[in-house]
Amino acid sequence: MKFITFATACLVVGLAHSAALSEKALASAHSQIMGNASSMLGWQVAGSLQSLAPVDQGCQNITSFGHGHWAALGLKPAVIEQAFCVATARVTNSSALALNQIKLAATDMFIAQLLHAFGDDPEPNYKWLCQNFNYTAINDDLALNSGRIGQAFCANRPYATAWVDPSHEVLVVTDNYIYNMASILFADLYSFSASTPTERWVMCEQYQYMSQAQLQVGINSAVVRSHLCVDHDAPLMTQSYSQFIMTTISTSIFARQLSLAVNAINDDEKRTWLCESIQHGDLGLLGMAANNTLFC
Ligand SMILES: *[C@@H]1O[C@H](CO)[C@@H](O)[C@H](O)[C@H]1NC(C)=O
Ligand SMILES: *[C@@H]1O[C@H](CO)[C@@H](O)[C@H](O)[C@H]1NC(C)=O
Ligand SMILES: *[C@@H]1O[C@H](CO)[C@@H](O)[C@H](O)[C@H]1NC(C)=O
Ligand SMILES: *[C@@H]1O[C@H](CO)[C@@H](O)[C@H](O)[C@H]1NC(C)=O
Ligand SMILES: *[C@@H]1O[C@H](CO)[C@@H](O)[C@H](O)[C@H]1NC(C)=O
Repeated sequence: MKFITFATACLVVGLAHSAALSEKALASAHSQIMGNASSMLGWQVAGSLQSLAPVDQGCQNITSFGHGHWAALGLKPAVIEQAFCVATARVTNSSALALNQIKLAATDMFIAQLLHAFGDDPEPNYKWLCQNFNYTAINDDLALNSGRIGQAFCANRPYATAWVDPSHEVLVVTDNYIYNMASILFADLYSFSASTPTERWVMCEQYQYMSQAQLQVGINSAVVRSHLCVDHDAPLMTQSYSQFIMTTISTSIFARQLSLAVNAINDDEKRTWLCESIQHGDLGLLGMAANNTLFC
């Protein structure tokens, strides 16, 4: 209950402060972020199911797969369905394909969040980012496409510092904090698709057939197991609680990604810059806290 109240408070504060970016720009940003979050979830599920039967079922009718629960969280069934259909069409190497798609979606989500984090005069901030990004950390620690991120913030701009294209492929995030947070997020979203405790239990029993593949797509399967294999009496997660989890975890992941991407973890000057530059009010964006307490 406490969580739900907090989530509502965030929403209200967000609406009251949303001055800098237009409603239209915010809606478009939100749609891009949710689209990429949906793609990530779709590929995480498709890449970690070893039997393709459920993926095929989801491709036929995504509404029946997640019981429509994911749509209720603002995720996009059509994007999830598309991931399922591409995965079933290319039966071999679905984990390898999934990893590439997850990396692409994670990169684009980070870009969409960051492009909209600065209110209506973002250019000086893009310049700072372009010049302060640690492209090695983005590639090696975050397993994001550093070239694509550099291009978004540096290319075709007067300060077009050369960004660095990745020299080698890193597919699974090496930062432990993000690895665990991403695993918890997946575990919650996946178990939220169960409509009864019995169904959750069946998913728990299927877990052992998924665990190996989950590790391959960058998910800690022990975390997933601990969320699915709970007592029969444990109530299913409510929609508002799942929404709250999705928002807070996405925010934590974004903050950690950004801190590592600009080497701000132990740098007070950079943390101050982040505190002062990231707009507090531009909400409705997954990955933005109501108050920018993340860096302040
Ligand atoms: C993902 O984000 C990018 C912007 O970084 C956007 O162009 C793209 O449309 C988004 N993908 C989806 C499926 O919404
Ligand atoms: C998809 O599944 C839902 C829920 O089970 C059902 O109501 C709907 O008719 C199905 N749609 C198609 C095209 O089979
Ligand atoms: C399929 O996966 C295997 C093992 O990961 C890899 O060696 C092979 O190159 C992949 N093939 C394609 C076409 O990606
Ligand atoms: C950039 O990140 C790499 C990988 O984490 C790290 O080894 C390096 O020290 C960082 N560079 C700077 C200037 O902090
Ligand atoms: C945001 O920060 C202000 C000032 O620090 C505080 O009064 C307010 O309660 C915070 N709001 C939320 C939703 O945390």
